Amino acid sequence: MPAGQTMQERTDSMSEQKQSQTTGLPAGIQVPDTMAIIMDGNGRWAKKRGLPRTAGHKKGADTIHTIGLEANRLGVKKLILYAFSTENWKRPEDEVGYLCKLPGLFFDRYIRDLMNNNIRVTFAGELGRFPDSTQKVIRRAVEQTEDNTGLELCIAINYGARRELLLAAQKYAEDVRNGRENNVTEEEFSKYLFVPEEVDLLIRTSGEERISNFLLWQLAYSELIFTPTAWPDFDESSLRECITEYNHRERRFGGVKA
Ligand code: IPE
Ligand code: IPE
Ligand code: MG
Repeated sequence: MPAGQTMQERTDSMSEQKQSQTTGLPAGIQVPDTMAIIMDGNGRWAKKRGLPRTAGHKKGADTIHTIGLEANRLGVKKLILYAFSTENWKRPEDEVGYLCKLPGLFFDRYIRDLMNNNIRVTFAGELGRFPDSTQKVIRRAVEQTEDNTGLELCIAINYGARRELLLAAQKYAEDVRNGRENNVTEEEFSKYLFVPEEVDLLIRTSGEERISNFLLWQLAYSELIFTPTAWPDFDESSLRECITEYNHRERRFGGVKA
């Protein structure tokens, strides 16, 4: 045992080494509980390869599977993925049409694997604007996985943070009118949102450095990482690198360094 090291410290350092060997993360790394990703760059990824934008979305869906599994393996509790914004309806009809079909293609291919890995699927946003068939496959995946206890994989779809806040304010106002609520705390108000948790780490792929109407409330004190990697190229090691970088940040929440 190195001089000056207690038995406890030795045990800690041995278990850190073990953690590092099994997770692929450097020793002593803390995995964030709640992570969010703006999965950007599918279109540019495809264009660079002379492919239609939809080919980028198809490859991007495979990345959702890869990253979901890795986040689950590392012990992330909740991963919120921005899949379709309230602004994305502005895109050409054929692209929107393909994006509406993508949940069906994704769950047909991967639901069994999500089940085998104990991953629970949820969604954030308003499903009502999607075709019935899209709504159905998403609701079915949510039901099928609802008893799973591993990672919560939350797909933000027809999601916009301003819309989320507006709906929350409306629901709150209704509760006040009905005498059920008055003077809520921030924590209580967050329960009116699609996503009640605070995000520890936000990643945006593909070089853009903006929030694009994602989780405006929940990102108040998140650490932000912008990576040039396009979403279809983002892989397990990219995720581990982001988590390692997150560990180098000092979160102060408005206080001073301890
Ligand atoms: C993200 O990739 C996927 C969605 C927004 C649906 P993009 O389609 O935005 O790809 P770029 O930004 O045009 O490259
Ligand atoms: C944000 O990406 C939305 C999703 C990833 C679903 P966009 O590509 O739509 O964002 P902007 O237009 O570059 O801000
Ligand atoms: Mg984009």
